[in-house]
Amino acid sequence: MTHERIALVTGANRGIGLETSRQLAAEGVTVLMAGRKKEAIDATAAALRAEGLDVHPVVLDVTRAADIEAVRAHLEATYGRLDILVNNAGIITDPGGFAPTTFTVTPEQLRQSFEVNVIAPIAIVQALMPLLEASPAARIVNLSSILASMAEHSNPSSPWAGVTPLAYDASKTALNQFTVHLAAALRDTPIKVNSAHPGWVKTDMGSEAAPMEIVDGAKTSVALALLGSDGPSGSFIHLGEHIAW
Ligand SMILES: NC(=O)c1ccc[n+]([C@@H]2O[C@H](COP(=O)([O-])OP(=O)(O)OC[C@H]3O[C@@H](n4cnc5c(N)ncnc54)[C@H](OP(=O)(O)O)[C@@H]3O)[C@@H](O)[C@H]2O)c1
Repeated sequence: MTHERIALVTGANRGIGLETSRQLAAEGVTVLMAGRKKEAIDATAAALRAEGLDVHPVVLDVTRAADIEAVRAHLEATYGRLDILVNNAGIITDPGGFAPTTFTVTPEQLRQSFEVNVIAPIAIVQALMPLLEASPAARIVNLSSILASMAEHSNPSSPWAGVTPLAYDASKTALNQFTVHLAAALRDTPIKVNSAHPGWVKTDMGSEAAPMEIVDGAKTSVALALLGSDGPSGSFIHLGEHIAW
């Protein structure tokens, strides 16, 4: 059986990752839905399969090297390549959600945040790079946030300037730097990598106060995952619009 496009979406058991998996599969992509709890990701993928979507559960705690290696080996043995990687799993460890933590965030909260939001995507890309290179035109999407933007935070009149959970914001800024470095390293290849701001989305992280529905919150990730050869690389995008770093 030949597979048109193979995608791996991390943090696919709920929120934006689940909806991204659904929308990619609806576009005919074979989606490996990664979650850290086997029962939960098995059940979530089974529900999408019941809708007729070609999705498959894989266990992946993004901070566990053994899980990354198992997923790499599975991809290599089953498909021999990876066409789309969506680094979607993310956490906010700052106390009080999105309240300011400049004077209060602890080293442990910083460490956990950087572990999941920065170090894990870098480790996953490094492990999967040979499989991404085996794709005719791989796409990598790093789920960032408008809160990563130094341009927004250094503009006192920006609506985002006062939203300063330091561990979250700084970790997403570091993730953006990875996007830029990776795009530069891949400039002479067909592989494209971009940072996505999904919007402020009604998920467990975004809360009920968020203005965007999950179906719309997945659109930026899906568009960047399916970018044509004329699309950008090394950019920070929300719904087709460029965001200032
Ligand atoms: N919602 C927003 O308004 C918003 C805005 C800007 C950016 N984002 C970004 O968009 C992405 C998705 O956010 P969301 O709103 O869908 O968040 P969410 O509802 O809180 O879901 C987070 C996902 O990440 C997974 N995850 C956390 N730690 C993990 C780990 N160590 N290994 C594997 N998976 C892990 C969670 O799995 P478990 O169920 O196992 O915990 C869950 O699937 C995140 O990177 C977030 O920072 C969201």
